[in-house]
Amino acid sequence: MSIKDILKMGDPRLLRVALPVERFDTPELHSLLKDMHSTMQHAQGVGLAAPQIGVNLQVVMFGTGEPNPRYPDEDPVAKTILINPVITPLSEETEEGWEGCLSVPGLRGKVPRWKSIKYTGFDEKGVAISREAVGFHARMVQHECDHLWGILYPMRIKDFTQFGYTEVLFPGLSDKSDD
Ligand code: NI
Repeated sequence: MSIKDILKMGDPRLLRVALPVERFDTPELHSLLKDMHSTMQHAQGVGLAAPQIGVNLQVVMFGTGEPNPRYPDEDPVAKTILINPVITPLSEETEEGWEGCLSVPGLRGKVPRWKSIKYTGFDEKGVAISREAVGFHARMVQHECDHLWGILYPMRIKDFTQFGYTEVLFPGLSDKSDD
């Protein structure tokens, strides 16, 4: 297990469509998940996708696990490993919210997302996951899964007046890290 370099926007490896995982509960998969977890923790992120460390597989992890000081107004999201995900919107409704990304350091932007979704997939042992999510939780899942389709959040921004440097947009934010 080791901390990996996080690829930054501009790297073509972030623009690939990731491949589905075919075998679960393997040493290779567990090793990847350990690398992702230590890399995400080191970067103080709340989500990471395998393509962000250069591994082109449909694997994401996300979750705050407890109230996060960077998102004091948001409900905690259970720490989750999600493999081969499928997202289905539960209504036509979208909402805008601020996002950052470890692959786009120092910046934040307001991104439209489905407000309410169902997501399915598998955990690292191949056990099926099926959940419904709204708001911040739904946004986090959509952001991470976008990495698997080669989409970075700036590609979804509609209003570029709502895109800028974190330290300028949120001067009071004590923790300047990205997610
Ligand atoms: Ni990201």
